[in-house]
Amino acid sequence: MCGIVGYTGSQNAAPLLLEGLKKLEYRGYDSAGIAVVEGNTIHIRKVTGRIANLCEKTGDGQGIPGTTGIGHTRWATHGAPTDTNAHPHTSNDGRFAVVHNGIIENYVELRRELTQKGYRFESETDTEVIVHLVEMYYGGDFKQAVMKAANRLRGSYALGIVCANEPGRIFVMREASPLIVGLGIGETYFASDVTAMVAYTRNVIYLEDGEFAELTPEGVQVYDCAGREIPKPISRITWDIQAAEKGGYAHFMLKEIMEQPRAAKATLAPRIQSGEVVLENLTLDWGKIQKIMITACGSAYYAGCAGKYTIEKLCRIPVQLELASELRYADPLVDEHTLLIVLSQSGETADTIAAMKECRNRGAQILAIVNVVGSTIAKLADCTLYTWAGPEIAVATTKGYTTQLLVLYLFALYAGKLRGTLKADQYHRLVGELRSLPRRMQLALDMNPRIPKLAKKYHKADSLFFIGRNTDYAVALEGALKMKEISYIHAESYAAGELKHGTIALIHEGQPVVALCCNPAVMEKTLSNIVEVIARGAEVLAVAERGNQTVLSVADDMLYVPRVDTLLSACVEIIPLQLLAYYVAKENGCDIDKPKNLAKSVTVE
Ligand code: G6P
Repeated sequence: MCGIVGYTGSQNAAPLLLEGLKKLEYRGYDSAGIAVVEGNTIHIRKVTGRIANLCEKTGDGQGIPGTTGIGHTRWATHGAPTDTNAHPHTSNDGRFAVVHNGIIENYVELRRELTQKGYRFESETDTEVIVHLVEMYYGGDFKQAVMKAANRLRGSYALGIVCANEPGRIFVMREASPLIVGLGIGETYFASDVTAMVAYTRNVIYLEDGEFAELTPEGVQVYDCAGREIPKPISRITWDIQAAEKGGYAHFMLKEIMEQPRAAKATLAPRIQSGEVVLENLTLDWGKIQKIMITACGSAYYAGCAGKYTIEKLCRIPVQLELASELRYADPLVDEHTLLIVLSQSGETADTIAAMKECRNRGAQILAIVNVVGSTIAKLADCTLYTWAGPEIAVATTKGYTTQLLVLYLFALYAGKLRGTLKADQYHRLVGELRSLPRRMQLALDMNPRIPKLAKKYHKADSLFFIGRNTDYAVALEGALKMKEISYIHAESYAAGELKHGTIALIHEGQPVVALCCNPAVMEKTLSNIVEVIARGAEVLAVAERGNQTVLSVADDMLYVPRVDTLLSACVEIIPLQLLAYYVAKENGCDIDKPKNLAKSVTVE
C-alpha cells in the first residue's frame, strides 16, 4: 500500500526520491508525488498512475533543485486516485508539506474544526488535516508544531514533514505503520521499507510506535511522544541488494518462484541440527496450551489451512483457523490456554495486527511466523520465528507462502516431540523428509516444462475450478487465489466432495477443472469426483505424482510433483500451480508483479 521515502543531504534529492519510490512500487499504488525544499521554496510534483509518469514530468528529477525532500506512492482510500488527492499535501501558507502512510481515523472531526478556523482543503484525503494542524500549531518551532499536531491524531501513520523555513530538516513519525531511518555519511534517509534505501546505506534505525525523529544531513535524533530524546540502536541490513533486483527474470514473481528451493534451505538449515528440530527463542508456556488458533490474511491464511493438518496430526491438539479480518470482531473464545499462531509475510497487515491484539487482551500466548525482520507483528508477539525468505517484491506471494509452511512443519515436529505425541521413528523419518524438501521443490520446478504450453490452452477460460480433498484442498485454496490475483480469471477452490452439493451445477462442456490428487489417502475419492465432472463435460488438469497411471488415464492434462509425505507436501504441490498462474497471466498480458487493485502490504482495514 502507500509508501513513503525521504532524503536530506548534499545530493539533489528528487532523483533519489524517485529511485526510492520505484523500489516501493511493488507495495501497490495508483498515484505518486514528491516535495523538494530549495531555499525557502517547496517544489511539489504529483501524478496519477505510475512513477514513470513522475520521472517523465520531472526529467528523472533533474529538473527539480533542492537537497531535502519527501516522496509518496498512494493507494487510494479516502478519495479517488487523482493528482489533487496524491501526496505530498501542503499547508495553505505553502510552508509545510507532508507525506503519510496509514489512516487518520478522526479526520472528519479534525477537518470540521480546521475548516471552521478558516483552513482551506484541496483534497478529499484524511492526510490533509495533518499539514493544516502543523501550520496551525507553528509558532516558529517546527518540532513543537509537529508534536502538537501528532497529539491530535488518532489512527495509523508513518509521516514525513518538511518546512520551507527549515531546509535540511525533516520530521518523521510513526504510529502503527512501518518507518525506518537510514544513516549515510553526510546524508540521512527514511522510508516505509528498507528496500527503498538499501542501495545507499545498510545502517538503519527502526522507529517504534509513538516515536518521532528529526532528520538532518548529520544524522538523526529520535524522541518519545513527549519530546524527550531517546537512544536507539543501529541495525545492519545483511541481505544482499540483489535479492531485491529482478536478476534477469522477466518478473519478480517468476524469480521468487524459482528462488523457493534456496529460500527453503535458508528457512530450514539453521533449525535442523544433528537430525533434531531446533527452534530459537520458542519460550512458550507449553503446559498451559489446550488449543491452537491460527490467524492470518490471504495466502498466509491458506498456509495456515495446510499447516493445520500437520499440527493436528503430529501434536494431537485442536487447531482452529480464523481469518484475521473476522477474528478481530468475533468476540473469540480465546484465553490463556490458547496459543495463537500469527502468519504474515510483511508483518504489517492491519487486520492481522488487530486480531493479534484482540487475542492478546484475552490472555493468549502469541507465536508469530513472519518474514520481514523488525516488523510490527514480529515485535508484538511473545515469540517470533522468521521465515528467512529474503525480500519478496511481487504482490502475489510465493516464497513467502512456502516458507511459512516450512516453519509450520518445523513447529509441528518440534511440538509433537515435546508433547510426546510423535513417536521417535516417525519424528526422525519426518525430519529427514523435511530436510529433503528444498531438493523436492527444485524437482517440482524442473519436472513441469510444459506449463507455458498448458497456459496457452487454459488462458482463455472464463473461470477455473480447483478441487481436492484434505491437504490437497488446502493447496487448491492457494492455487485458486494465485490464479485470480494475477491473471484476473475467476477461480474457485472447492473441497472435491462438496462439489455435488451445488457447485457441480456450474460444470459445463469445456469447463476447466484443476484437480489435486497428491494425497494417497483420499486419492480414490478425488478420482470419483474427477470422473463426475468429466461426465459433465469438464476438462481436467490434474496435479499428481509423476508415474501415477490412474490419474493419467482420466485427466486431459497433467502437472507433476515428486513424492513427498502428505503432511509436508503442500509446499511442493503448490509450485506447479504458481507456475500455471504465472504463465496464464503472462498469456493474458497482465501486470504480473503489480496486479490491479492489489497491494503487497495491506496496512488498512
Ligand atoms: C495481501 C497480499 C497477499 C498476502 C496478504 C497477507 O493481500 O497481496 O499476497 O497473502 O496480503 O499479507 P501478509 O504480509 O500478512 O502475509
